[in-house]
Order: sequence, then structure tokens, then C-alpha cells
Amino acid sequence: MSILITGGAGLVGMALRQRLAQLGRPVVATDAVSHGRDDPDLIIAQLTDQAAVEALFANHDITAVIHCGAISGPMLARDNPGLVVDVNIAGTARLMDQARRHGVRRFVFCSSISVYGSVGPGVINEATPLRPTSVYAASKVSGEALVDAFLTEHGLDGVSLRIARVYGPHRRGNCVLADVIRNHLAGNGTVIPCDPNFMYHYVHVDDVVGAIITALDAGRLPERRYNVAGGEALTMPDIVATAQQALPGARIAMVAGQDDVPDIQREFDISAIARDLGWMPQMPLARGIALYAESLAQTTAAQ
Ligand SMILES: NC(=O)c1ccc[n+]([C@@H]2O[C@H](COP(=O)([O-])OP(=O)(O)OC[C@H]3O[C@@H](n4cnc5c(N)ncnc54)[C@H](O)[C@@H]3O)[C@@H](O)[C@H]2O)c1
Repeated sequence: MSILITGGAGLVGMALRQRLAQLGRPVVATDAVSHGRDDPDLIIAQLTDQAAVEALFANHDITAVIHCGAISGPMLARDNPGLVVDVNIAGTARLMDQARRHGVRRFVFCSSISVYGSVGPGVINEATPLRPTSVYAASKVSGEALVDAFLTEHGLDGVSLRIARVYGPHRRGNCVLADVIRNHLAGNGTVIPCDPNFMYHYVHVDDVVGAIITALDAGRLPERRYNVAGGEALTMPDIVATAQQALPGARIAMVAGQDDVPDIQREFDISAIARDLGWMPQMPLARGIALYAESLAQTTAAQ
């Protein structure tokens, strides 16, 4: 009776494992790599390896799946779109096929707000048309379509969470907040290239974990896709002001430039997940940055 977590060595996967362990819930965690950590409980398996994915289900009593494993952002593997397709689309289908064969109760798919692409002005809700601007984003649109199709055709109960920009301990990909904190801890300043009017949608990893567990445990799901964002759209000047409050003395400058995911997305409507599942983000950005800084300081001290 275990919950399978793919991407179990990643940002969201690590936080999920920690929370589920605290709740006393049995977990089987898998990932392609352990990212250099000593992690005896992690099963190393590639989502692209049919036999390895079959073995996860054959060797464990998996009753639910949280699928975090992926090439996890449009900035990753940009020069290798075939890999993004193999891992994020074929890997997801492979996992779902095993899930339905083994009678899994629910499959939670980590989708992304990138499915919407560059929307421009206006509030984005789950009915906003999907216009992906990267192969990564297209792979998330495909993953969502697979969730729907496996439900319709094979009865696999799935839900897609369209997650905003996640920050927190164990983030490996580029992250302005991580840069600011690391530089601050090292006594250095940070220069952030940005358009001061561009809107960012950060969500703390603990809030994402809360949304995932809520979606996993909910009874009947009225919808099959939900936005999961921090609730507050912020410009980089807003974020810098908050970071300076959370990290007294931090030296941060902004110069003209643009984000590496320049989709224009002004505001997310998260009322559907609040209404149907009772989830709301809890972590204010200043507190999240302070906690992230504590965690990075501990990691640095341990090295
Ligand atoms: N981090 C974000 O800002 C963000 C935003 C929206 C959606 N998401 C999605 O949420 C999920 C979790 O994201 P994260 O931030 O924890 O990412 P992450 O990169 O920290 O973790 C993803 C994990 O997937 C693993 N992986 C990659 N290729 C694999 C393969 N072939 N086989 C098995 N495992 C493989 C990686 O080793 C990694 O540990 C992903 O699906 C990501 O696309 C993340």
C-alpha cells in the first residue's frame, strides 16, 4: 500500500517524501539519479526504461502515483527536444500504463503553468487556451492529455496540477531567489537582468507538496486540472524588496534584460482548487525566502 513518487530526488520529490514520512505514509521513491546524495531508500530507475518501470510496480504494492520525475523546465535539455519527449511524454505514458494495469487508485501529474504559454493581459484560469512556447511546455500539455485519455479509455483516475515557479530547498535548476541567497551568504551582491514589468509567480515547495497531497487524497474530483500558484503575482522590483526584507543587508541590483522563460502571464486564478479541494498557498514570500536561506546556510556549513 505505497505511494510511488517519481522524481524522488528532485525539489518537489524530496519535500514530498519528507512530508509523507512525517505523516507515516509508506512511500516508494524513484529517480534516475540521487544527485550525489547518500539516499539508500531511493530506487534508481529511468522513466525511459520499460523493464525498470515495470519492476517498480511488480516489486511493490503501489496504490497511488505522484509523478514528479521529468526534464523539469523549458531551460533544461533545450538542445535535446527528443529527450524531453522520451522522458516527459513516453515516460509518463509508460508509467500510466503500469499504473492502470496494477489498479492504482489515483495518479497525480505535475504539470506546469507553462502549458498556457504567453497569454498577455488577463487572469489565467483552467479554461484559458493552451499555447505552449517550448517543447517542455508541449510535453506537459501532452501529459495532461494522457491523464484524460487514460481516465476515459482505461479508468485510471488522474489529475493534473499546473504548478507555478517552485522555490525551496533542493532546487537544482536556475532560480533568481537561490542566486540572491547564495550570493548573500557568500558576502556577494547579485545583479538580476529583468524587465521590471514582467510578472513572476513563485510558489514555495511546501505549498506545492500540500496541493499534491490534497489532490491525492481528495474523494471525487470535480475537475481534472488545477492551477497551483502562490496567489500573488510579483514584479522583480517587488521580489527584490521582499528579499531585502527577508535577508537584511542583501545587495541586489536590477539591469535591463529578460527572464529565461519570457511567457507573459499576468495573474493566475487559483479559486478552483480552493473551492474543490480547499487548498490555498500558506507561505508568504518573505518567510519562504528566509527558510530557504536557513536551509542553504545549513547545506553550506555541512560541506
Ligand atoms: N520546479 C518548478 O518550478 C516547476 C514548475 C512547474 C512544474 N514543475 C514540474 O514539477 C515536477 C517536479 O519538479 P522539480 O522542481 O522537483 O524538478 P527536479 O528537476 O528537481 O526533479 C525532477 C526529477 O526528475 C528526474 N528525472 C529526470 N529525467 C528522468 C528520467 N529519465 N527518469 C527518471 N527520473 C528522471 C531528475 O533526476 C529529477 O530529480 C516536474 O514534473 C516539473 O516539470 C516544476
